[in-house]
Amino acid sequence: MPENRSPVTPTVVRLPQYTKADQDEILGDSDDPFGVASTGLKWLPKEVHFGVRHDRRLVAHVGLLRLPVVIGDVRTEVVGVGGVAVASTVRGRGLARLTIAAALEHAAAMGPRHALLFCRPPLVPLYQRLGWHPLDTQVLVEQPEADVVAMPLRTMVTPLREAADWPPGTVRLLSLPM
Ligand SMILES: CC(C)(COP(=O)(O)OP(=O)(O)OC[C@H]1O[C@@H](n2cnc3c(N)ncnc32)[C@H](O)[C@@H]1OP(=O)(O)O)[C@@H](O)C(=O)NCCC(=O)NCCS
Repeated sequence: MPENRSPVTPTVVRLPQYTKADQDEILGDSDDPFGVASTGLKWLPKEVHFGVRHDRRLVAHVGLLRLPVVIGDVRTEVVGVGGVAVASTVRGRGLARLTIAAALEHAAAMGPRHALLFCRPPLVPLYQRLGWHPLDTQVLVEQPEADVVAMPLRTMVTPLREAADWPPGTVRLLSLPM
């Protein structure tokens, strides 16, 4: 490619599946690639997957899953976003931004008014930069042995359509977190 031409923008594709081997291809075979093992939480697999390949290697992933939730006293649904991962060799180049944007475009057609994700506190500024907002209310999630537990990670939300304000009140996910 001539030096004065910028590289081709990576393409986000919908993945037919996303296995542990796919995750390992992005993040390596680490025990705790997301840094959340200390929470001891059990997580749901995602159902819809988007990714980016570079030289046939999977280098980015974002997963989606529709989830029932009670906010205040209103039962509704959110699109849970999880498994956000970019290979260490290509971080800082906008791949998370690109893949999340493509996933949210799909999420906007799934029905719920908001997307929701959980992240470690150091990632809050990154998601804020992508237009997400941290929730300051308590968030309860289900766990196999404990009925409900308070989510120790930060909860971030973003609207999936215009004028979709997040309702007030405690949030209770009626499922495991994603
Ligand atoms: C978190 C992770 C997905 C980020 O991927 P990435 O491709 O490097 O992120 P991007 O390059 O798309 O950056 C997204 C935006 O956040 C910004 N950003 C990055 N780190 C930031 C920080 N610490 N504070 C504020 N903004 C930050 C970037 O500048 C970029 O904004 P811009 O496009 O306006 O410049 C990647 O580091 C990763 O896979 N980590 C391990 C797995 C993990 O923890 N996943 C998160 C699960 S919630």
